[in-house]
Amino acid sequence: MAENAAKELIEEHAVIMKMIAALKRQAFFLSLGKEVPYKQMKESLELLADFADACHHAKEEKALFPALAGLPRYKAKADEFLDEHMRSREYMKAMRAALPVVTYGSDSSMRVFVGNANAYCALLIEHIKKENALFAKCGEIFSEEENKKMGRAFAKIEKEEIGEEKHEQYQERAEKLSEKAAEL
Ligand SMILES: [Fe+2]
Ligand SMILES: [Fe+2]
Repeated sequence: MAENAAKELIEEHAVIMKMIAALKRQAFFLSLGKEVPYKQMKESLELLADFADACHHAKEEKALFPALAGLPRYKAKADEFLDEHMRSREYMKAMRAALPVVTYGSDSSMRVFVGNANAYCALLIEHIKKENALFAKCGEIFSEEENKKMGRAFAKIEKEEIGEEKHEQYQERAEKLSEKAAEL
């Protein structure tokens, strides 16, 4: 089978989806006026900002998207994906600003947090679906040499952004977070 460096990104999507599901659940319970532990919400935002954005999105933006953008057939897709990353950062920024002042009940920062969390989750769920469909074909889109080069670029970015061998820790944190969110 052809080597596909983007397989790594597809696997990361599964971890990111756990974080998104937890955030979605937290937002839902908040919207009902229920209490959601601050620490748990903070953990969702931290994991999504560090693992999903700083590390995973960086791999896409610095290595995969530029390679896709170099191919006329995929240029528009790469631009679309990048634009969605930008939008997700706006939602994240708003959530991070609202979180420290969220109180339970119907206060406005709670509504801002919930609105942005829902928009963020909806955007990234669709984004990941579209990326998975395209990334699955990257073994055919790029040569074996290009895939190898991309794999090396991913490893370098991961080392720089979250540190070597930290991947598993993030996976475990995502696992714990979904267990906590399931108990809400
Ligand atoms: Fe992406
Ligand atoms: Fe992605």
